[in-house]
Order: sequence, then structure tokens, then C-alpha cells
Amino acid sequence: MQQTDFLVIGSGIAGLTYALKVSQQCPDKKITIITKSREDETNTKYAQGGVAVVNDLENDSFEKHIEDTLIAGDGLCNERIVEIVVTEGPERVNEIIEWGANFDKNPDGDFSLGREGGHSVFRVIHHKDITGKEIERALLDAIHRRPNIELVTHCFVVDLITQHHLGYLVTKSTPDIECYGVYVLNLTNKKIEKILAKVTLLATGGNGQVYRSTTNPGIATGDGVSMVYRAKGRIENMEFIQFHPTALYQPGVSPSFLITEAVRGDGGILRNINGEDFMHKYDPRLSLAPRDIVARAIDSEMKITGTEHVFLDCRHMDIEKFVHHFPNIYETCINAGIDVQHQMIPVAPAAHYSCGGIKTNEWGQTSVRNLYACGECASTGLHGANRLASNSLLEAMVFAHRCFMDATSKIDTVDFREDVPDWDARGTTAPREMILITQSLKELKQIMSDYVGIVRTDVRLERALRRLDILHEETEALYQKTEVSPQLCELRNLITVGYLIVKGASFRKESRGLHFNTDYPFKCELIQNIVL
Ligand code: FAD
Ligand code: SIN
Repeated sequence: MQQTDFLVIGSGIAGLTYALKVSQQCPDKKITIITKSREDETNTKYAQGGVAVVNDLENDSFEKHIEDTLIAGDGLCNERIVEIVVTEGPERVNEIIEWGANFDKNPDGDFSLGREGGHSVFRVIHHKDITGKEIERALLDAIHRRPNIELVTHCFVVDLITQHHLGYLVTKSTPDIECYGVYVLNLTNKKIEKILAKVTLLATGGNGQVYRSTTNPGIATGDGVSMVYRAKGRIENMEFIQFHPTALYQPGVSPSFLITEAVRGDGGILRNINGEDFMHKYDPRLSLAPRDIVARAIDSEMKITGTEHVFLDCRHMDIEKFVHHFPNIYETCINAGIDVQHQMIPVAPAAHYSCGGIKTNEWGQTSVRNLYACGECASTGLHGANRLASNSLLEAMVFAHRCFMDATSKIDTVDFREDVPDWDARGTTAPREMILITQSLKELKQIMSDYVGIVRTDVRLERALRRLDILHEETEALYQKTEVSPQLCELRNLITVGYLIVKGASFRKESRGLHFNTDYPFKCELIQNIVL
């Protein structure tokens, strides 16, 4: 059994930023970061386009960034939260620059700014097309220099510890659910260990792996959301899954390689399989309309032409500039046999970002006491029904700071809960057939992709729910009698995430932002968050 003052689950931008800040403020406290994979294997590492932040005050302003965020969010953003993120953003960005992250500059010394869908001006700072890799590198370097931070890799957090584990009945209406730490599967010795913490931060990232085609790496299995749901905490707006319009179309390759929206910002044009520029049929902002609109337009063109992809045409762009700004994309395309100077890039939408998640307030507190959440796993109210491109790295930094402020102000009022029992593995045996898990995962991805994708209907959602019920029942039975493994835990978590997406989608009797149901093609007047 271990004890730590500040427990952090996740080593992406959210978890690392929070840990660094706590470590600087509280040098005498212990901070433990846990990650289920290698230290840098995170959604953060794959971020391409950059960080949307106001810095060019001649052409940009907080008001413009706020307005763009609200328009993209389609009426569902929390305006107070949008203002907080946009106005606190520049200070947070300066901090990661001080910690060593490099962003590209023009010869005159100003930031080189990119533009993406839904942005009215160029405002996205970036490091070539590998912004996330640079941020992750800088944060990890800084973390390794902090003596009071322990970073533990290859440990899978299975569940949050609450009163439930002390034998109390905990329901959704229990007023004061508390988090005392977590049970963790150590992937090296295969044992489940108990870690007690005064405060815990969930920074577990997204859940793109619930779909067949996703830009998210394998770690993105919605573990944090699922753990909070099991702990009877509040989850909201899970139906708003953002499909990125332009993932490289490469059947059988997973995850899908992203072609950043910044390529369209620099002039790339979407064309259908017949080479026709089609976006003018859908939105006057053309290829730079907000993501929900572009992804639906592509989906519609693919259905009209009966194909599995469209094209992104960059042949007219200055190739030297292209290679300079997008070296990773250029090289990946070359390796896939595509010379972007002479050939169009085949692209298709892929699940990319979860706008909803663990419901938090303006200090990152969840509905469970002493449990915070930030980054992609949290639902802060910033994104509403559709996230504005490149707003998530910014949100993670701003809320990591807010969680840090609140958690450090409370830490000395919290005690460890010493009477937590060890994990009880009695009655379980080693898994005999992994195929039961791998096949169920395939089925789950199939169900979600076929029935709960970009365009939904009531019949499809009902069908998805019935199929998920069966998968849920079978997987719970397996979980009860089998030794815990990461594969089984992830399957279980993904089924929960799928269920929450379908439930949210079924309750929302309208089309708004990323949720489009042809049975209710319009927005309701009543604007509401769906809390589960
Ligand atoms: P992550 O970076 O995903 O980190 C999650 C961490 O939690 C990982 O360390 C993981 O191992 C750990 N974890 C999860 N479950 C468990 C468990 N059960 N036990 C232990 N550890 C666990 N956003 C932008 O703003 N700009 C961009 O340009 C941009 N480009 C993107 C490009 C791609 C290809 C992708 C996939 C996303 C992009 N995004 C972008 C979105 C953005 O990268 C993510 O939303 C953000 O990085 C999430 O950070 P995070 O810290 O919340 O989670
Ligand atoms: C991209 O670079 O297109 C992705 C940006 C984002 O998801 O915010």
C-alpha cells in the first residue's frame, strides 16, 4: 500500500501541468503521477495544429476568440467558462514556454500563427505539425527535474476508491461521495495495489477508441469517465463526439493519421471523389467551417458518391512552405505513396475528441469530493456542442492551473482514509480465452461506428443500445470471474463510454453541434446539458 498527497492519473498535458505546478508550490508534499503506458504515450503527443490563444492584439482580441468558441459550440457553451479559458490562456501558455516548450516564430520574432476551422483570424501557435510532441517533451523534461514527483509508468488504474469500498451503499443521490485513492493494476507484477491519496486528479484523456476509425492512440479508452460513472459521479454531454474531417484514409491502419486542419488553413481544398470542390454547397466558410459542418459535408459527399473517402487537394500550395510547416505530414504521405505536390490526399472523418465527460465546475472539482478532473476527460462547459479547433490544449492548461489552485488550498484539511480494504480477487481465475475480449471490442467499435456516428437516427440508437446491453452483460460476467487485465478493463470502460454516448444521444431530441439526428433535424429552444 502506498500513500501520496497528490495523486495524478495521466501523463498528458493536463496531468503534467498540474503536477508541475503543485510540485513548485508544495515542495514538501509527495506527488505521484500514474500512467498505464509509456510516459509520453498520450493524445497530447499526437496534437498537430497547435494551441489557439490570443497574442496578436493588432488582428485578434479576447472578444473574437470568445465569439468563435461560442459559435462553434452552437449555443451550449458556458459563457463564463469560455471567458475564463480565453482570458487566462495567454498566461498559461507563457508558463509552458518558460518550462521549455518551443513554438515557431516568424523572422520578425512574432509567433507564426496558423488558422483552423471556425477561427475568424490566424491565432494558433504551433511547433511545425508536431506541437503536441514538443509540449509533451518539454513537460516531461521539467517533471524529471522535480524531486518530489514520482512518475510511475505501466500501472493501470482500475477503480476509484470511495465509501462503496468500505461497505456503504453509494447511489447517485448519495450527497457526499468521497474519493480516497485508487486501485491500480501493476502491469509488471500483475498485482492490484492500493494507493491512498488526499486528493486525486483524473487527467485520463479521451475515448476515441470506442470507434473503429479514430485519430486517438490506443490509450484513449475513456477510463476516467467510466470510473467516475461507476463511482456514481456526474457525467455530461457524452453525445458530442467530434469527428475530425480529415484523417488520412488508409484502410486497416489504426489509429488514423491526422492531416491537421491547419493544412486547410494554409489553402488546402476539399474535393469529392470526382475532383469537385463541394464545400460551397454546405457552408459559406467553405473548408474552414467548424468541424461538425465539414465532417457532415464529407459524410454526405461520401454517401452521394458511394465512396469511403474524399480528397484534400494541396497541389496548388507552395511546396517549400508546405514542407516547412508540415514536415511530419509530408513525410507520412510520402511513406504512404502520396506525393502531395502532385497527388491529392485521400481523407475521411475519424473520431477525434470527446467534448463531454466528467462534469466539473470552474475549479475543476467533480461531483465526488477530493476528486478533480481536467483535460479531455472533463466537461468544463468550454466546448458546448462542438469544440473549436485547438481549444483543448489551452483548456487543459487553464484547468490544470485551476485544479492546482483549489487542490493546494485544501490539501492540509484532508486526511488519508486508513481503513480501505485491499483489493479482493477471490473467486477469479486467469483468463482462458482472450478472443472473448478482442471479439467483443470489435463488435463494440462496429456498433458505435455503424449506428452512433456522424449522423444518427432514433432507430439506429435503439439498435445500438440493445446490442450494447448484451455486450455489457457478457463483459460484466467475465469481469466477475476473471483476473483483472488491462484488456478486460478497457473493454469494460469502452462499453460504459459507448452506453453513455448512446444514452446522451437518445435523450437529446434535437440536432445541435456534433449531434445530428435526422428524426429531429432542428435545435430545441430549451438549451440543456444532458447529465448522466
Ligand atoms: P492525454 O494526453 O490523452 O493523456 C491521458 C493520460 O491518461 C495518458 O498518460 C494515459 O496513459 C493515462 N491514462 C488513461 N487511462 C488510464 C488508466 N486507467 N490508468 C492509468 N493511466 C491512464 N488539441 C488541440 O488543442 N490542438 C491540436 O492541435 C490537437 N491536435 C490533435 C491531434 C490528434 C491526432 C489528437 C488525437 C488530438 C489532438 N488534439 C488537439 C486534442 C488534444 O491533443 C487532447 O485533447 C489533449 O492532448 C488531451 O490531453 P489530456 O492530458 O487530457 O489527455
Ligand atoms: C488539427 O490539427 O487539425 C487538430 C486540432 C485539434 O484537434 O484541435
